[in-house]
Amino acid sequence: MARKIAAGNWKMNGTEAALAEVEALAGMIGTPDCEVLLCPPATLIDRMVARAEGSVVAVGAQACHPATSGAHTGDIAADMLADAGATQVILGHSERRADHGETDADVAAQAAAALTAGLTAIICVGETEAERDAEVTLNLVASQLAGSIPEGADPARLVVAYEPVWAIGTGRTPTLDQIAEVHTHIRAELTQRLGAAAIDIPLLYGGSVKPGNAAEIFAVNDVDGALVGGASLKAADFAGIVTALSAA
Ligand code: PGA
Repeated sequence: MARKIAAGNWKMNGTEAALAEVEALAGMIGTPDCEVLLCPPATLIDRMVARAEGSVVAVGAQACHPATSGAHTGDIAADMLADAGATQVILGHSERRADHGETDADVAAQAAAALTAGLTAIICVGETEAERDAEVTLNLVASQLAGSIPEGADPARLVVAYEPVWAIGTGRTPTLDQIAEVHTHIRAELTQRLGAAAIDIPLLYGGSVKPGNAAEIFAVNDVDGALVGGASLKAADFAGIVTALSAA
């Protein structure tokens, strides 16, 4: 069985004042039966690590550069994130793919760097609304996975997040059957590529997960947790999601 993970992606939100949410969250969730991860902007990683000390909340990052150092103005290397206290990094989020033109090959190179730096790589895949309408979702997700997971990746340090682009920040979610269909397909593709160890790779659903819909989503087969944007910014909302996952 894959471990359960409630992961929050703060995206480009948060300064010092927002760190109060971390302490509030830690107080609300205690010791749940799942992993809890928050991925703030890189500027907050080390401060969030300090504020989360003694709690179950782990801290991750939202992106990394494939190189270890060099002339890449504005970019951050994976081992810099690890040095700041991050243990995991989100890679290939659809906003990175859209805003920065990141390709599957870029994501694979970033993931290789993340794994080398000792980080767990949370690799995101998902279709646009046009792709869903064109009924290419399963093939697209399979090809994103094939291209975004680096050769020789250690399955023990991979997490996959299925995030339909049209469900992110929109309040819309796929039906539970649609989520089940894609997650089953992802598990099968990972098993074909990585063998039996794929059973232990956590598969997260992402896209408009809220306290009110979390429990039904976590009851879906092969859903091992969530990658949460908006609802991870407020401790009370994210605590509701953590509690639902802990009980799942
Ligand atoms: P959302 O974002 O929860 O705000 O829809 C999800 C994500 O982008 O990871």
